[in-house]
Formats: sequence, structure tokens, C-alpha cells
Amino acid sequence: MSDGGGRKFGPLGTTLVIIPTYNEAENIKPVVGRVREAVPAAHVLVADDNSPDGTGKLADELAADDEQVHVLHRTGKEGLGAAYLAGFAWGMEHGYGVLVEMDADGSHQPEELPRLLTALKGADLVLGSRWVPGGRIVNWPKSRQLISRGGSTYSRLLLDVPIRDVTGGYRAFRRETLEGLGLDEVASQGYCFQVDLARRAVREGYHVVEVPITFVERERGDSKMSKDIVVEALWRVTTWGVGARVDKVLGRKPGER
Ligand code: GDD
Ligand code: MN
Repeated sequence: MSDGGGRKFGPLGTTLVIIPTYNEAENIKPVVGRVREAVPAAHVLVADDNSPDGTGKLADELAADDEQVHVLHRTGKEGLGAAYLAGFAWGMEHGYGVLVEMDADGSHQPEELPRLLTALKGADLVLGSRWVPGGRIVNWPKSRQLISRGGSTYSRLLLDVPIRDVTGGYRAFRRETLEGLGLDEVASQGYCFQVDLARRAVREGYHVVEVPITFVERERGDSKMSKDIVVEALWRVTTWGVGARVDKVLGRKPGER
């Protein structure tokens, strides 16, 4: 992670807020409304994995009434990572300068987005962070806080990334940053996608800034966190960490994996 010292950062282009959804029928309309109100210039892209509860249809209704709302219909549930990759590709194709990741369930408060975007004026990537001073979590059980903190600490130490909240999913990227991350090689499907992009950003020397956020646990619908997602994260993070150490011992440049 470079400190950004002395670097000049170009102006920010138009913002696209990407919201991946799987069964978020109760949440999608309120969250899109809040984004449109909090940052009126931003566009929204809902990346829906053909949710059985009709989230995609509700998103279509929003898009029909508002030319700044777009919907990417995907054929089935392929995980958060795949939905974001498709959303990033769509956004870059359509010329957006800033791509934002945001959960649909209200955990990432749209009202905090202006602060993330202000920080991005002097950074390549901004992470909304629960684990820096000023960061907070509302309504998460102790057990979930432990998993998140533990996952973040394990990843930070094993991968040598100086980021407190490396698994968080409220982020703002400059498009140039995404272009430099080697997205073609990203295989992560679940929440470890977030760790994967963070470690790549650090590896490429991008200036990454953490901004404190208040993460509010969802009130409606269910989390998609599952045992499979935790297992994928554990084995991938461990593989990356061990691989990087082997590369170091052998004097190789950090490899793609
Ligand atoms: N399209 C699509 N496909 N969307 C998905 C999928 C999928 O397979 N799985 C989850 N999502 C969407 C959800 O609908 C929601 O909008 C968002 O991704 C986050 O899912 P949640 O299930 O609400 O995540 P969480 O609250 O358990 O986890 C949060 O913390 C993780 C660990 O810090 C999120 O902020 C994650 O991004 C974060 O990695
Ligand atoms: Mn959630």
C-alpha cells in the first residue's frame, strides 16, 4: 500500500453503485431510493442472480421509472464475486469513472457514500471499514463479530495487507484501479472476493484508504453467508498466504493465483 504522498489523482468520473442481489425483494426498493437521494448524480446497477423472490422484476420497475437505474439480469446464483465482476465489466463498458460496491440489505448506509467518494479524490481505492476508529456495527451478534474480526485478522497477518477491514463489502474504486487488478484471473466466488481484490490492490501498490462506517445488520430478508462461503474463504486465503511465502523463499515475484 503506497501512501499516495505527492501523487496527483485525476478527477472522478460518474459514479455507478453496483448492488448485487439474491432474494432481496423487501430491500431493493428502499436501498435504491436511498442511494438516489444521498448521491443524486450517481447511477445504480442492480446485479440480480435471477432471484426466485422476484427481486429482478422489482428492479426492472425502478429502472422503468428512472433512467439512472439499470438492471443486469444473470441466469442463476453464482456468488457475490461473479455478480460484481459482471457488474464491473458492465460499468466499464458504459464509461463510468467510479465503481462502488454496496450490499442491498441496508448494512451499507447510502448516506455514508459521500464520505467514501470524498476520500476517493485522494486515493485509488476507498474501503468502508468497521474496524478502524470511528467504525461501528449495529445489531450484529457477538458470534458474527468474532467471525468477521477473526477473518479480517487472519487475512491481514497471513497476506501481509495493512488493512483492518479486509473482508468488508462497502467500497469505491476508481476505474483505473479495477483495470490494474487483473480481474480476468479472479476466481473467488463468495465473500473472499473482497479479500482477493484488497490483496491485489495492495500488491499493485495502489493507495488504499479506510474510512470508518457504521455497518447496520439487515432487518429484512436473510444473510447468504453459509458454511461453503466460509470454507472457500479459509482455503483460498490460506493458499494465497502460503503461496506468497513460498514465492518469497524461492526469490520469485509475487505470482498470480
Ligand atoms: N447476485 C448475487 N449473487 N448477490 C448475492 C449473492 C449471489 O450469489 N450472495 C449474496 N449476494 C448479495 C446479497 O443479496 C446482498 O445484497 C449482498 O450480496 C451481501 O450479502 P449478505 O448475505 O447480506 O452478506 P452478509 O451481511 O452476510 O455479509 C457482509 O459481510 C461480509 C463479510 O464482512 C457483506 O458486507 C459482505 O460483502 C462481506 O464480505
Ligand atoms: Mn448483509
